[in-house]
Amino acid sequence: MAQGNNARLRVVLLAAGQGKRMKSDKPKVLHEVLGKTILGRIISAANELEPEAIHVVIGHGADMVKTFVAESTQSTPVETHLQEPQLGTGHALMQVAPSLESFKGTLVVSVADTPLITAGTLKELVDEHNRSGAVVSLLTTRVDDPKNYGRILRDKSGAVSGIVEDKDADEQQKKITEVNPAIYCFAWPEAAEALGSLKNDNRQKEYYLTDVIGWAHEKGHKLSSVLAEDWREVAGINSRLELAEAARLLRDITINRLALESGVTIIDPTSTWIAPEVRIGRDSVVLPGCYLMGDVSIAENCTIGPYTVTRGTVTVGAGTTIAQSVVTDSKIGENCRIGPFSHLREHTVVANQVRVGNFVEIKKSVIASRTNASHLSYIGDASLGSGVNIGAGTITANYNHITKKKQTTTICDGASTGSNSVLVAPVTLGENAMVGANTTVTKDVPAGALAVTRVPQENKLDYVTRLKQKVAAK
Ligand code: UD1
Ligand code: CA
Repeated sequence: MAQGNNARLRVVLLAAGQGKRMKSDKPKVLHEVLGKTILGRIISAANELEPEAIHVVIGHGADMVKTFVAESTQSTPVETHLQEPQLGTGHALMQVAPSLESFKGTLVVSVADTPLITAGTLKELVDEHNRSGAVVSLLTTRVDDPKNYGRILRDKSGAVSGIVEDKDADEQQKKITEVNPAIYCFAWPEAAEALGSLKNDNRQKEYYLTDVIGWAHEKGHKLSSVLAEDWREVAGINSRLELAEAARLLRDITINRLALESGVTIIDPTSTWIAPEVRIGRDSVVLPGCYLMGDVSIAENCTIGPYTVTRGTVTVGAGTTIAQSVVTDSKIGENCRIGPFSHLREHTVVANQVRVGNFVEIKKSVIASRTNASHLSYIGDASLGSGVNIGAGTITANYNHITKKKQTTTICDGASTGSNSVLVAPVTLGENAMVGANTTVTKDVPAGALAVTRVPQENKLDYVTRLKQKVAAK
């Protein structure tokens, strides 16, 4: 019965439940822990096992979960299976069984509400399962407060003999502190037979997947178990408080790793939130109040924060400073100074030694090296050359509200704009072109030319003095 280490492998994630205790219109598994959904986190961990396929059982909010799965990117194909109505975790696995008819190997089955499970722990379980040749293997863990968990029953020899749900447990059983994280390995198709024998004669009138353990014990099939050392890693999320706890734990794990292994200084771990996907290079410093989420890569010797937010895919080159700013789906070069109060939005690419200052918003723009946009500007759908200086209050007018069209602005190397200038796209400023303060540019400016649209200044001599005399005379 042993599957050996080259056994075929598939993963089933049970995600059809509503998660009543979340008090949410959104399915529980689509709630986020540090910028990534609960389901997304467990799919990523499962993906690292390199299975042939991941099967997700959906039910409550099926369309939302299906859309999420369709949009998620991982190397393993993910299939969804509808469970309607939801009659328990055993019934959930029954919905996948028909798709596994030709499958022979190791089937990992897990509840999908354990976002902190690591690929390492899953691998330990799979390795033990394959090594022992068990028909059923399970993770167990020890908790101080076993409430709500299924309790692990062991016979006199200490071998696992079954699981009893909290609601079905008697007083003695309720005292057991070894519990069921609901993460299993089944030898397939041997264990499939158990599904046919499941009954719903329990307090919840559900078909419990946990009864497969008792079935294996009764049939004399080999059972193996692996104890997960830290129960918090395998804890199920059932409420928003538990969601917050999971986020806090993952934050602590991430910050410890960055500090101890990557050589990052994190000034105030308690006010800093960093998702585990974020990579930060040696001797970078993260100042208080940062919220760094997403697929983010920050190089060495950077200073991030205070109060900087990242989202999406972000890369930051070495020696760059980003103070009090928001950066989404952008690429920033080396030795740049961003902020305070800059907003770099989607598809912004900034080269080296660029300065983006106070109250500057940049969207879908490419900015070459040594260019400055230091104060109060909007730069959208633009391409800026190197050594450009954007004067305070310069706006690229890229959007026509009636046609709904966005147009592009091109600013060539060495060009500059005066304060309060408006560049009405589509428009190009040639190399070293200059735009006078308060100019509205609607035509291309040739290289080396100055564009001014200002009304000429008129000085009315003594005007104020005479006005004052007139008022005093009345
Ligand atoms: C389950 C286990 C319990 C274990 C605990 C660990 C059973 C019977 N009990 O209980 O032993 O200690 O997890 O967290 O398995 N789901 C479906 N279809 C259903 C019902 C549930 O797909 O019909 C999914 C849910 O979406 C969820 C997971 O299964 O992701 C667990 O469901 P939940 O109701 O949270 O089970 P627990 O009561 O926590
Ligand atoms: Ca649960």
